[in-house]
Amino acid sequence: MKKKYIAGNWKMNLKRAEAVELAKSIKTALKDGKNKYMLAPSFTLIQDVAEVLKGSNILLGAQNMCAEETGAFTGEVSPLQLRDLGVQVVILGHSERRHIFKESNELINTKVNLALKHGFEVILCVGELLEEREAGKAEAVCEEQIRRGLAAVSSKDMERLTIAYEPVWAIGTGKTATPEDADEIHASIRLVLKELYGEEIAQNTCIQYGGSMKPANAADLLAKENIDGGLIGGASLNAETFAPIANF
Ligand code: PGA
Repeated sequence: MKKKYIAGNWKMNLKRAEAVELAKSIKTALKDGKNKYMLAPSFTLIQDVAEVLKGSNILLGAQNMCAEETGAFTGEVSPLQLRDLGVQVVILGHSERRHIFKESNELINTKVNLALKHGFEVILCVGELLEEREAGKAEAVCEEQIRRGLAAVSSKDMERLTIAYEPVWAIGTGKTATPEDADEIHASIRLVLKELYGEEIAQNTCIQYGGSMKPANAADLLAKENIDGGLIGGASLNAETFAPIANF
């Protein structure tokens, strides 16, 4: 079976001492883990968490990144600053960035290309709102976010690109897409990737599911053919809930 990619998105949670404790417990719990792992703490926690994760089998991630390298961008964090901290992976286009902070497909695409230029792995998040799902537009919304998010991304760079399908109505709500529903969207995402990059890249690209993934539903979701991993919010804030998913 293909290695799964299990990533924790800690969002705007934890202070430094708590983050260090959590990173240590997760590191211990996953030390013999067979899958690919990543943790994305808040910017202010990255340096401390980097110390804990150094030399481990867990990649260090960031939850966002500025679309510019340097200059007058108050409140932003540049890819150069993230490199300097040892960050390896950047999550881009998360629905909370799209919907609360109004990030457009164009802005996200600029960030994706800049992150790849600086050698990061990227997790590009896509997903539909509840009303879009109810209107039968889930696949179309994801397709547009992927086509526009990946504009100008080369086949070569797709090796460092993961897609996370995160239906917005499932994030942090306790509602999870059924494994069948999620797998159907994942299959449609793979089809879009095939049109853009051909069969081999489409098959090799990791497509994670995100949205209330927890120990109780992870095994069923991850057993699906097109679900290659998980991007986990709430359940990544505790080693007892993250480890059983990560050790799938
Ligand atoms: P959740 O968040 O697991 O808390 O639903 C997932 C995400 O937003 O990445």
